Amino acid sequence: MDRILIRGGNRLNGTIPISGAKNSALTLLPCALLTDEPLTLRNLPRLADVDSFGHLLNQLGCSTMIEGTRPEDFGRVMTMRAGSVSATIAPYDIVRKMRASILVLGPLLARAGEAKVSLPGGCAIGNRPIDLHLKALEAFGAEMETESGYVTARAKGGRLPGGTMIFPVVSVGATENALMAASRAKGTCIIENAAREPEIVDLCKLLVAMGVHIDGIGTETLTIEGVDRLHGATYRVMADRIEAGSYACAVGIAGGSVDLLGADASEMAATLDALRQAGVQVEEHKKGIKVSADGPLGPLTLSTAPYPGFATDMQAQFMAMLLKADGASVLTETIFENRYMHVPELMRMGADIQVKGRTAVVRGVDRLAGAPVMATDLRASMSLIIAGLAAEGETQVNRVYHLDRGYERLEEKLQAVGADIERVSDG
Ligand code: EPZ
Repeated sequence: MDRILIRGGNRLNGTIPISGAKNSALTLLPCALLTDEPLTLRNLPRLADVDSFGHLLNQLGCSTMIEGTRPEDFGRVMTMRAGSVSATIAPYDIVRKMRASILVLGPLLARAGEAKVSLPGGCAIGNRPIDLHLKALEAFGAEMETESGYVTARAKGGRLPGGTMIFPVVSVGATENALMAASRAKGTCIIENAAREPEIVDLCKLLVAMGVHIDGIGTETLTIEGVDRLHGATYRVMADRIEAGSYACAVGIAGGSVDLLGADASEMAATLDALRQAGVQVEEHKKGIKVSADGPLGPLTLSTAPYPGFATDMQAQFMAMLLKADGASVLTETIFENRYMHVPELMRMGADIQVKGRTAVVRGVDRLAGAPVMATDLRASMSLIIAGLAAEGETQVNRVYHLDRGYERLEEKLQAVGADIERVSDG
């Protein structure tokens, strides 16, 4: 198992290329199942979850071919082709390792008229049920059946009749499954209280490029006119706004000045506002975002919310950045019920954090001390890296496979801007 060692205290200066967005790639990849024509995605990040999704697509009869990298992209080009769908099941052993596998449910139902997907089970940050995914497909006319840990969805006559789904809470994944299921429906599908994350907009743009008619893109009401056949397309995955925000937090606590190449400020307003409020200088330009910091930051009061609110995926990273702020910050996690797994690990480094229910009070300290710490989930792992960059002595982050799911070449990117960081493999 690999570990990452960080010796803190270095300021960060230089350029970090921002990769394609993991959470966009994981919903664009299953779109290959919607057509028998080739789908080419550009700027795909080199991540464990993207590789796992490719293997799942192969098991469903979809070929995948990596074709190098375009000069204007950081990520790879991959062409997929599902000439026919040889299976319509996402098995437990795949879904339990990568929850995003449930995003084949909508495409398989749309293409093959049926799909069987394992219920994913919980994960470190919460129970994360998929009831809203199933309710959306049912609202569009699918016949649903749940048995022995699997859910089966069927479209009578092979295509969904259409209908209206009003989400009681905003769900990114359920909105994505609903959009993909609706893409071949016979009638109109309407999604009310849809998620508005930029990754949803990326998915809508790809579906439109494949021939689907969608109104209301970027709003909470989406109207989809399904088509008999979708055609192939070539599409560039958006930049990863969470990766960019994570590195901005690293600069915030370590100090220095880093250009986040490829970051799109228009998709990060809440993150950039919070950074500025804390005292980080943020300069948006046409090729990315330059962030600079020098000296202690001010405290913040932040509450996570669906987009365009402050992203839950940024909570752990901001908590790490605020560990040495001048004063007490208050963070409230409203999306997931257990997204403070990083707190006990940060406290081992000398952080002063008190958690009460969904709220964490972070009192700034003068000094953090490096320590061996344990990664528990993707964003929690990044918060440990960020804290390690400003801690005295050596921090050893264990179980970095969590990080490899969502951060491409993390140690290389940080080494390139002056961090004293290395990956050690236990062989
Ligand atoms: C996506 O997860 C992201 N993952 C998550 O990023 C992100 O934290 C989350 O959206 C919120 O922005 C991917 O895109 C692959 P949700 P998702 O459905 O779709 C509840 C990361 O670190 N809910 O918007 O699973 C759920 O329990 C990951 O990159 C139901 O109750 O999130 C949660 O409390 C972590 N029933 C809330 O809704 C459902 O059927 C929001 O979840 C579905 C969700």
